[in-house]
Amino acid sequence: MTSGLFISFEGIDGAGKSTHIEALAATLRGAGRRVVLTREPGGTPLAEKLRALALNDPMDPLTEALLMFAARRDHLLQVIEPALTRGDAVLSDRFTDATFAYQGAGRGFDAGVLAGLERWVQSVPAVPAPAIRQPDLTVWFDLAPAVAAQRLAGARVPDKFESQPQAFFARVAAGYAQRAAADPQRFLRVDAGQPRESVWQEVLAGVQARGLLA
Ligand code: TYD
Repeated sequence: MTSGLFISFEGIDGAGKSTHIEALAATLRGAGRRVVLTREPGGTPLAEKLRALALNDPMDPLTEALLMFAARRDHLLQVIEPALTRGDAVLSDRFTDATFAYQGAGRGFDAGVLAGLERWVQSVPAVPAPAIRQPDLTVWFDLAPAVAAQRLAGARVPDKFESQPQAFFARVAAGYAQRAAADPQRFLRVDAGQPRESVWQEVLAGVQARGLLA
């Protein structure tokens, strides 16, 4: 049986992940893999309810972080772990790096507490301790906050995060850079400021170079 493959996609709002997630799903399916497309916060009925709260209601950063991790726990147990056990490829639009970037770097919440929550929430039976479940690959769409702001302007009614000032996204971007530096093996940095086709070629080349399309 094929072993499961877990890929997450990250970047500040406006970085343009969506079309590339779809394209990679199609490519993996073309290579004969079963693909589960999902997102965070969300991916289960409970986690989607938590998403609606976290993205719309004002709350303090700890409450926000706890909702993100509560949604993540349900998503992991109900969707991600069963799919990986079946040998499917799971493509998730965001995962825990987003909590470090948004609630940690963006909101200024304690990264040590987040690391504790990460350890609790991502401890699963299929991964022998002390390791925890992490994506096999994280595709990080790196884009300057000023460019992202231009792309987002007038696109749609912004949610709580999308309506944050550019300084917030500068901190979030720095948070992603820090996570990537701490785990360079897992991260594939893509320059999201290029034309869409060039971005896609970088994503594809990175996934191929890691032998994940074989
Ligand atoms: P996003 O993934 O951009 O979806 P959409 O394209 O539908 O807007 O939106 C999710 C938002 O949630 C985004 O602004 C980042 C934020 N978020 C966090 O703040 N913390 C988290 O842990 C996650 C997963 C997302």
